[in-house]
Amino acid sequence: MLGKLFGIGVGPGDPELLTLKAVRVLKEVSHVFAASSSKNDYSLARSIVGEHLPPGTPVDHLAFPMTFNPERLEDAWRDNCEKVVDALRQGKNVAFLTIGDPLTFSTFIYIMRKIKKQLPGVVVTVVPGITSYQAAAACANEPLAEGEEAITILSGAKGRDRLKDAMEISENVVIMKTYRRFPEILAQIKEKGLEERCCFVSRCGLEGEIVERDFEKLADMEQPHYLSLMIIKKNGLED
Ligand SMILES: C[S@@+](CC[C@H](N)C(=O)[O-])C[C@H]1O[C@@H](n2cnc3c(N)ncnc32)[C@H](O)[C@@H]1O
Repeated sequence: MLGKLFGIGVGPGDPELLTLKAVRVLKEVSHVFAASSSKNDYSLARSIVGEHLPPGTPVDHLAFPMTFNPERLEDAWRDNCEKVVDALRQGKNVAFLTIGDPLTFSTFIYIMRKIKKQLPGVVVTVVPGITSYQAAAACANEPLAEGEEAITILSGAKGRDRLKDAMEISENVVIMKTYRRFPEILAQIKEKGLEERCCFVSRCGLEGEIVERDFEKLADMEQPHYLSLMIIKKNGLED
């Protein structure tokens, strides 16, 4: 009998944003996998669940490199996927922890696809998590969308014209993964004349949290932390 796979969203940082369902499932699984940095093995997702994991539950950190190199990514997905598949073949119910929500810009998506291919019929249950942009909006007190407005959530990792395109069709835009192309993102905002209409949020719910609306300060900032995003509201920020 194959075990079941649970993709668990643990929210973006504040442990109080874990859902009751995530906490319940964590108490029921027999093995936990958590994505970690390939540089130092640190897993934010693991640290968020903290004491909700019953003592003695085995936890494996799975390193995923932050790269666009398709071969390196493929190698990491394959190796990590094998570890999860092994546990499932042993009949263990396993949880894969992801920051925020498992189906929003998450490694879990690739892992889930690969596992389903290798183990057709495996039962996959996704426990949604509070996304980083929901928590950031709450922390900045900025509505994400209202009335008939549209919202676009996009990755800033590859930069350039995507913001322009997004602003054509949406009153509200969230740019995730702002860290690599921050100067380009700021340049796009300036080009569109939206300097007064953007709010940057970094490390929401974590030590070193930043909420910054002052565009000049943003322009002076060093490369932001990986856990950073930008909310842009064409119709203006809250007072
Ligand atoms: C790989 S994506 C993960 C998204 C996640 N699955 C979600 O639902 O929010 C990583 C990006 O999420 C955003 N992010 C995650 N946690 C964050 C936090 N605590 N504060 C600000 N941004 C965060 C950043 O834009 C970061 O580059």
